[in-house]
Amino acid sequence: MLTEAPPAPAGPERRTATRVLVEHHEVLRGLIRHLRRTPCSRPGRRRALAGELYDELWMHERIEEEIFYPAMRDVTPALAAAWSEHRQLSDQLAALVRADPRTERFDRELDMLHDALESHAHLDEERRMFPEVERFADEDLLVGLGDRLSARLGRLRSSRRVRMVLRLQRTLLRHTAR
Ligand SMILES: [Fe+2]
Ligand SMILES: [Fe+2]
Repeated sequence: MLTEAPPAPAGPERRTATRVLVEHHEVLRGLIRHLRRTPCSRPGRRRALAGELYDELWMHERIEEEIFYPAMRDVTPALAAAWSEHRQLSDQLAALVRADPRTERFDRELDMLHDALESHAHLDEERRMFPEVERFADEDLLVGLGDRLSARLGRLRSSRRVRMVLRLQRTLLRHTAR
């Protein structure tokens, strides 16, 4: 006779919202490192990587702005600055996509994007906002938010409509390059 409930099946590991976001920051950093190692003699590869970076950073901003920042409204005062830093990052991302990957300008735009990303993601989020959130927000809330962030990121990545819109945005940016 069964006297104990069988152990729950092992599901995917659940992560807090801050862990999900830090891991996604690592994805963005990895793409920038990869781009920096790709020489200007391979413009097609550079263009493809810049496109991937564009899409991933766009999705990162969406999940933070739609799910994480609104949920943290009463926990941290750092949100107003974070929204405006996202706008600056988006502008710098657009400048990178507009730049010709065979030129030094592309490298300069990439350096500026790297600096802007580290200033926002590392200094403002990982060093200030996230520790504050982890101190004051409930663990269950953070794990629940982590599930929502992961699910939303997965849906954005696999959405053909989102991919098409982002590809169109990048094409328009290149055609308005100065
Ligand atoms: Fe952010
Ligand atoms: Fe972030």
